[in-house]
Amino acid sequence: MKRIIIDTDPGIDDALAILFALGLPGVSVEGLTTVSGNVPVEQGTHNALTILEAVGRTDIPVAKGAAYPLRRRLITAEEVHGENGLAGLNLPQPSSKVHDLSAVEWLRHKLRTSLEPITIVAIGPLTNLGMLYCLDPEAFAKIEEIVFMGGAAFCSGNTTSAAEFNILVDPDAARHVVQSGVPLTMVGLDVTQKATLFAEDLARFEGQDSPLASFARRLLEATFAKRTGKIELGGIHLHDPLAVGVAVNPEIVQSKRYYLAVETEGEVAVGQTVVDDRPWSKNEPNATVAVDVDRERFLNWFLDVLTH
Ligand code: BDR
Ligand code: CA
Repeated sequence: MKRIIIDTDPGIDDALAILFALGLPGVSVEGLTTVSGNVPVEQGTHNALTILEAVGRTDIPVAKGAAYPLRRRLITAEEVHGENGLAGLNLPQPSSKVHDLSAVEWLRHKLRTSLEPITIVAIGPLTNLGMLYCLDPEAFAKIEEIVFMGGAAFCSGNTTSAAEFNILVDPDAARHVVQSGVPLTMVGLDVTQKATLFAEDLARFEGQDSPLASFARRLLEATFAKRTGKIELGGIHLHDPLAVGVAVNPEIVQSKRYYLAVETEGEVAVGQTVVDDRPWSKNEPNATVAVDVDRERFLNWFLDVLTH
């Protein structure tokens, strides 16, 4: 059994990533920790509870995390994800409550007491993980691996020309995580922008009415509907689901070991993930970086899991 904790800012693609993880055989989702990013953490936490309620998984704990980045103003992305973060989808109020411990305290406790290795799939800004590293580096060092969706190795950013959203929101936290020495896999825009779901892929949901399939279909339909008429719209990038996929099956992407650093002080490139690709570099690699993905293979897997 692969045990994962999803650190998330739900978020349309976060919701899809959570649904995907819940449907994967051999995967135990030990908890969701929330963080401000796509929407403020209050809304994101509400969304996490709502998602679990809709698919009957209120047994999974949700711990609320950081409201603000370590030392910057918060940037959110309602223009992409909708005011409520879930494409305006109207969902029943969750009956379950958030955990008594904050995300950082819950993670700390979980890592210190778990007898089994735990992978963290981080699909929002890395504030909670940065805080945990500063608060309790020993507990942090118990993380088996962090697979994070974020950054852009050899392509432009999506929020600035240099930076991807999750890293731009909290580059200082990302820097702590990257320098922590914990095994790290970066699933950045180089691959996630290839993992695109198009409107015609929705046909795969026809006749499927499991809770996972129904929720995913409604969310995808609402997302396409919300975007009608906007030019950027070819399809929906499955950024966060791909990170879950890589955590469970690293072979789903091609990747390479690199030395990775995060720009935190720059005037024009703050939030950039700088990958040292020089063959003569003396820097020791500190991260596995996903560099390519077979879109069809990933998409088939993703849709198979959600529609069965
Ligand atoms: C990332 O930013 C968020 O908007 C998405 O949820 C994803 O985690 C993509 O840049
Ligand atoms: Ca996200």
